[in-house]
Amino acid sequence: MKQLSVNIKNPEKSSYQILIGSSLLKNISKYVDFSKYSKIAIITDTNVLPHLDNLKTGIKRDSLVVALEPGEKNKNIKTVEKIWKSLTDSGFDRKSLIINLGGGVVTDMGGFAAGCFMRGIDFINIPTTLLSQVDASIGGKTGINFENIKNLIGTFSQPFMTLIDTETLHTLPKREFISGFAEIIKHGLIKDKDFFNYLGSKQPYSFSPEEIVNIIEKSCLIKKEIFEKDPVENGPRKILNFGHTIGHAIESLSHDTQNPLLHGEAIAIGIMAEGKMSEIFGLINDKEMALIKRTLENAYLPIKTDLDVSLILKKIKNDKKNNFGQIKWTLLKEIGNASYDFDAKEEIVKKALSSVL
Ligand code: GLY
Repeated sequence: MKQLSVNIKNPEKSSYQILIGSSLLKNISKYVDFSKYSKIAIITDTNVLPHLDNLKTGIKRDSLVVALEPGEKNKNIKTVEKIWKSLTDSGFDRKSLIINLGGGVVTDMGGFAAGCFMRGIDFINIPTTLLSQVDASIGGKTGINFENIKNLIGTFSQPFMTLIDTETLHTLPKREFISGFAEIIKHGLIKDKDFFNYLGSKQPYSFSPEEIVNIIEKSCLIKKEIFEKDPVENGPRKILNFGHTIGHAIESLSHDTQNPLLHGEAIAIGIMAEGKMSEIFGLINDKEMALIKRTLENAYLPIKTDLDVSLILKKIKNDKKNNFGQIKWTLLKEIGNASYDFDAKEEIVKKALSSVL
C-alpha cells in the first residue's frame, strides 16, 4: 500500500472578524473592500426591507436583491434553488459575494447557498435578530430543514465577516428579542456563571442599549471560544447544543399546532428539561435548577409545553445528532460548566419531560 498525506492550509477561510456596533450598515464600505468582488447579491426577507436601504446605501455599488418569504416553513431546498437560480440568471461567478441580511433562517440558508454555489463563494452575515446575532450568524453552521427535521441538510461554511448592527434591534418585535435571550442565557449556563447571574439581575428590556451591546459581545465571545477550538463539532462544540435536543423536537412539533414557538422559546423549555436531566443524574442540585427556572421566567421565556411526551420522544429519536441510533446528551455539571456525550435511558428523558408539562 502507498499512502500520501494531504495537508491543506487555508488561513484565508479560517479567520474572520465579528463587528458589533451601531450604524454599521450605512458605513459598511469602511469595513469591507467591495471592489474585489465581481458581483454582489443581498439575500434577505420581506421582514427586514427597512434595513435594506441603509445597506444598499452603504455598499455604494449595484447589487442584486433576492427577497425571500420569511419564516421557518420556507427554510427548504426550494427556496435555496430560488437563490441559486437568481445568481445563475444574473451571471454570478466565483468572485461574487453574498450578503445575508436577516434572522437565522436567512443567514443559515444564504450561507448554505453561498457555501455550495460554485463550490463556495464569500459571504457576509448581517444578522438582524438578537437570536441570530448571538448564535446562527457565527460559527459556520449553515443549512435547511428536510423531511420536517430541522437543519438536516447543511454545511460548515464560515462567513467572510459577521457584522452586527444593533440598530436593527430597534424594529425587532418584543417576542423575538426575548427569544434571543434564551440562547444568551444558555451561553452563561454552559460556560460562565457570573454572566448567567448578571443576565438574571434584570429583565431583558431593563438593560440599557450599551449593556445590550456588551451582552451581545460577551455572548459572541463565549460561542467563538467554543467553536474555534472545534469548528466542525467533533467534541467540545457539542456543549452549545445544551437544551437543543429536546428544544428542537418541541420547536418542530409546535409548528404543526395553533401555537408555533420561536426557536428561543422552545430552547428555554429544552433548557428546563435537559437541566432536569442534569439534576436526575446528580450533576446539579435542586437549588441550581430553581435558579435556572427563575432566570428563564425573569426573561419572560416559557418553561412548559402542552405537547405530548410520546410525540416529543419520537421526534428526538429523529434528531440528526444521534450517533448510530444512540442519542448523546449535553448536560450541566454545574451552572457555568457543561459536558457532552452523556447516555441516558428513555425513562430519564421521560421523567425530565414530565417536569416541563
Ligand atoms: N447553535 C449551536 C452551534 O452553533 O453549534
